[in-house]
Amino acid sequence: MPIPAAARDVDAPGLRFPPSFVWGVATSSYQIEGAVDADGRGDSIWDAFSRRPGAVARGESGDPACDHYHRWPQDVELLDQLGVDAYRLSIAWPRIQPEGRGPVNRKGIDFYRRVLSAVRDRGISPFVTMYHWDLPQALEETGGWRSRDTALRFADYAVALHDELGDLVENWITLNEPYVSSIVGYGQGRHAPGAREGHGALAAAHHLLLGHGLAVTALRDQARPDDRLGITLNRSPVVGVTDTAADIAAAARLDCVLNHQFSDPVLGAGYPAELTEIYAGVSDFSFRHDSDLATIAAPLDFLGLNYYYRIHVSDAPYAEPDPAARNADDLGSDRTHRPAEARRSGLNWPIEPAGLREVLTGLRDRHATLPPIYLTENGCAYPDPAAKGVPPEHTDEPTESAATASPASTTGVAGNDAPDDAERIDFLAEHLAVLREAIAAGIDVRGYFLWSLLDNFEWALGYGPRFGIVRVDYDTQQRTPRASFHWYRELLRAQRSGA
Ligand code: NOJ
Repeated sequence: MPIPAAARDVDAPGLRFPPSFVWGVATSSYQIEGAVDADGRGDSIWDAFSRRPGAVARGESGDPACDHYHRWPQDVELLDQLGVDAYRLSIAWPRIQPEGRGPVNRKGIDFYRRVLSAVRDRGISPFVTMYHWDLPQALEETGGWRSRDTALRFADYAVALHDELGDLVENWITLNEPYVSSIVGYGQGRHAPGAREGHGALAAAHHLLLGHGLAVTALRDQARPDDRLGITLNRSPVVGVTDTAADIAAAARLDCVLNHQFSDPVLGAGYPAELTEIYAGVSDFSFRHDSDLATIAAPLDFLGLNYYYRIHVSDAPYAEPDPAARNADDLGSDRTHRPAEARRSGLNWPIEPAGLREVLTGLRDRHATLPPIYLTENGCAYPDPAAKGVPPEHTDEPTESAATASPASTTGVAGNDAPDDAERIDFLAEHLAVLREAIAAGIDVRGYFLWSLLDNFEWALGYGPRFGIVRVDYDTQQRTPRASFHWYRELLRAQRSGA
């Protein structure tokens, strides 16, 4: 059910943020760039994983994605039209160090210098993620994130980025969602590199965090005065499906694995003791060295959080009545499922803005001090009725919408695409209203990055899900701003007008 029109009115008092609040949009390299062989770029684990039969829906890959590598001037133009203060993008490590080590590839650096300069010329601050999941394949072949050496290589890469791009970037995000890179990539095998190893996944989680800490420590040594260093963690409140002790305990375990395993050490609280119990028999944690926790806890200038939904969990395996209702981005376990009563967005993800409040208050209650927070991702996917016939079993979308999808667009014109985009606008307005309340309640949230500027390659789900406020026609690469783009632009204008 849509929210009342007044609640998404860009002038609504509940959507009026402090003047210094930073408004942005986010993307990532592998999801938009394409051009995977251009200018000396090396293979990444996502190139290799996408070649594996059955790994990605419809056999798709990040080539050509949005061909942003060649079309970036147009995309920077869109940012300018949108009127954002900031743009969160990521850098593809294999463009900078094709083998994951050694001297930088000048052409890769030059590409990002062009993009970053163009962004800055429009008065937009870049927030640069150093690692958004595209590990050089050469490093995977020597162990990937299972290996301690990869953490050292990451710190070298971070220093190289800072040396080469530090005059254009003040805000650096070391890692995006290390939970997903480690547990989903090395444990569940649903993401690159597609491994299913308990001990390996936990080692990967630790080495990602260690790489983060080493990078922050190294960058502090050569910091420029305006440098601001942070990390982005995904965060979902985890709740029991029932209030039985067993379901509540299952939720607490997942909360530990998904949330606290990452935020506690980064915020200086060490690893939660429960982790050792949860993984008894899976790992002896021998990859942890004595001084690692101090490195991982290197002080941060900000904490980035990505919020999409709550996770509902039961102790006993749960048979989903509808196999298409399986969640694409959570643990993918038969113990996680969705509340029947919740509204859903296009991937069948529950729409639960209150979960954002719980994320913020939960962190505040758990940690005596927190760095300033940026919401570095929030958004939703809706099916694109004008897109090519996408088989329902691969969409992870509610069967109804897949079944009523119109046939392939032959014109390349985005005319069929839910012209009012009302559900996405509602989603954004509802989450922003919650964020505004949290700020009013004293939580130091400094900015919001909408995911995403463009439709893009949604990892193992390929091009089916449409997260963009700009529609991309993958046949023609035509960009068409959706109604949500116009709504967000008006919202930003209203913030500045002081009306
Ligand atoms: C979080 C990830 O950082 C991003 O890459 C992904 O596309 C969104 N979630 C949506 O699933």
